Amino acid sequence: MILVLSNHRDEHAQAVMVELSRRGAEARLLDLSRFPLDLGLSMHYDAQGGGRRFVFGCDDAGLDLDDCGAIWWRRPQPPSVDGAVARTEHQHFALSESHEALHGLWQAVDAFWINEPARDMVANRKAFQLQLASRLGLEIPQTLISNCPQAVREFVQRLGVGRVIYKAFSATEQDWRETRLLREQELDKLDNVRYAPVIFQSYIEADVDLRITVVGDEVFAAAIHSQDSAYKVDFRMDIGRVRIEAVTLPPEVQSRLLALMRQLGLVYGAIDMRRRPDGSHVFLEINPAGQWLFVERNSGQPIAAALAALLLEQDGQAGARGAGEPGTPAGARPARRRAKPARPAIRP
Ligand SMILES: Nc1ncnc2c1ncn2[C@@H]1O[C@H](COP(=O)(O)OP(=O)(O)OP(=O)(O)O)[C@@H](O)[C@H]1O
Ligand SMILES: [Mg+2]
Repeated sequence: MILVLSNHRDEHAQAVMVELSRRGAEARLLDLSRFPLDLGLSMHYDAQGGGRRFVFGCDDAGLDLDDCGAIWWRRPQPPSVDGAVARTEHQHFALSESHEALHGLWQAVDAFWINEPARDMVANRKAFQLQLASRLGLEIPQTLISNCPQAVREFVQRLGVGRVIYKAFSATEQDWRETRLLREQELDKLDNVRYAPVIFQSYIEADVDLRITVVGDEVFAAAIHSQDSAYKVDFRMDIGRVRIEAVTLPPEVQSRLLALMRQLGLVYGAIDMRRRPDGSHVFLEINPAGQWLFVERNSGQPIAAALAALLLEQDGQAGARGAGEPGTPAGARPARRRAKPARPAIRP
């Protein structure tokens, strides 16, 4: 059984569920915002011998996590007690206890993950990614992350106005900020970094932006023609119209990106780079749960299919069903218990 942790409105999860169902796979999408009010969880432990059983659902039709060989940590929703608990401190307690149970569960579950939650969290940290990428031989922009106005002023002075961008750590749907080129008239606002650290970087001129989606050993590199778009600094502002096509990476760039994936312990990653007019490549970031449908729809690269195939293979369903032959009826599934893959070291 393949378990997808997301919500039913998630197009990416749905795209993979479609691929899985075409292949006759057993798969379930679980929305964790139903926990704890509408979704039960019981974690049973024997007093001795290490035996345990983890089950979602309070009745016989529950989902035994030992039946899940592969889990996709796609967009897990936070637990919720919305509307059910009146006092704020009681809400906090209910949510914190729910988080505790779930975090422990994910650590204890014996399955193949895309990606392991703890690794996903660490890999998502931009301040860490940049260091690791640079140590692995990838070029990164000159960077200053700071809430010290003086340090920021010196950085801007050194690089020059017109050559510095600034951006936020995270862009969520609720709070989205594009990357901006720092302008002369913003210099007197630099004191505002006191309220929160900001990422300042040298502006990397682009021939194209690159989005490199890695699924296991497969690398899907796509060129995004950002310089033909309405906003050359950040193509995401014109994502509906920008041209995207498959490209091949220079072998040394590809092997360094795969080394980065390994070091971060990631099986899936969506990497952003810029290719300069002189052909050199600059690493910007890696998104451990980044989107890919905008790439697949334009470039035709079969990323949803690759994710489905990897989940199937790791769940142990592949051999039984003739993976790659969508529509073949489900056969008997071989016993699935495999050793948990060794955890790679996070740090170099
Ligand atoms: N140093 C830079 N020089 C030039 N362009 C940049 C630079 N940093 C970011 N950009 C542009 O802004 C875009 C968004 O930046 P980046 O991917 O680093 O941040 P993000 O906000 O975390 O993005 P995402 O939405 O992919 O998570 C990049 O794809 C690129 O086009
Ligand atoms: Mg990005």
